[in-house]
Amino acid sequence: MKGLILSGGKGTRLRPLTFTRAKQLIPIANKSNLLYVVDDLVAAGVSDLGIVISPDTGDEIRQHLLEARPEGVQFTFIEQREPLGLAHAVQTAQGFLGDESFVMYLGDNLLSGGIGHLVQEYEDSHPDAIVLLTRVENPQQFGVAVLDPDGRVLRLVEKPKVPPSDLALVGVYLFSPRIHEVIRTLKPSWRGEYEITEAIQGLVDREMPVVAHLVRGWWKDTGKPEDLLEANRLVLAQVTRRIEGEVTECDLLGEVVVEPGARVTRSELRGPIHIASGAVVEDSYVGPYTSIGQGSRVIGSEVEFSILLPQCEVVQVPYRLDASVIGQGAVVTRETRRRRQHTVGLVVGDFSRICL
Ligand code: TTP
Repeated sequence: MKGLILSGGKGTRLRPLTFTRAKQLIPIANKSNLLYVVDDLVAAGVSDLGIVISPDTGDEIRQHLLEARPEGVQFTFIEQREPLGLAHAVQTAQGFLGDESFVMYLGDNLLSGGIGHLVQEYEDSHPDAIVLLTRVENPQQFGVAVLDPDGRVLRLVEKPKVPPSDLALVGVYLFSPRIHEVIRTLKPSWRGEYEITEAIQGLVDREMPVVAHLVRGWWKDTGKPEDLLEANRLVLAQVTRRIEGEVTECDLLGEVVVEPGARVTRSELRGPIHIASGAVVEDSYVGPYTSIGQGSRVIGSEVEFSILLPQCEVVQVPYRLDASVIGQGAVVTRETRRRRQHTVGLVVGDFSRICL
């Protein structure tokens, strides 16, 4: 079985962060979303991986994966000239996929508990598709499935105005090569995309077996800033304390990870948090569900429930940063004439400079 990771797309909902980087590379607990996806596939025994990339962000994705390549994994990069939809991405990858079954995994999706059980089930029963579903409060924003009482898929609709159920399709799918026959017959949808939902509906219409499973743990699509923060929270909730960097005169509570080469002084650290190598924290408070990126500096400031990308600086900020995403190399600091204590929530693009 092959793996197909979709790592192209536009990422408009994550601007300004996606003006300067691929959204799949934004770190969650200091590891890119894309590497969690690769790890899930490899853990399930899928190591021949096709990576769909866009002309804009393909190079950085390629470089990131080749640098981090786990042993025994093979990457084939497939350029999709335009983001014409998930089914179009599969069609673009047809040369790589050949006649093999495959797992398709969206590069901006995170799943707890891995996909090993799904791959096993596929190998045991060989349906034409296995889809994963989860209950959501806003099904209008997803592909939605209707099941019969035995759990078989009856109908799928993409972003319905009047949702027939609250069961949303999650970005992990297992397909037999028969999906290609259906994709060849698709027309663009009202939003101009070749929809994978319609391709799966085509399998159902042709009475090919399509099996649905509910997500066992949690699932997150990291397409918006609030989802990034929530994914960061979910991943950090699983860490256990590990102090390998230098920590002096600090108060520590809970699950705190300080990577080798990080330096933390005279600060209050309240886990779960993750501080990457080369980061410096001084005279500061770092509160629960915060990740501080490689080489970032937090000096005389308070940060909570936030993501700091690598090499950014939060220096003498008079507000507590809360629910914030600070881009790589961005600087958030104090306007010297003003001193008021409040909380601010920011999404700051790479290399920005903000004085509060
Ligand atoms: P989406 O989040 O649906 O689309 P997008 O990346 O264009 O984001 P936005 O809506 O904010 O503009 O894409 C899900 C995943 O699939 C993501 O990793 C990008 C990838 N993708 C492709 O590789 N090719 C495509 O044609 C599309 C639409 C998405």
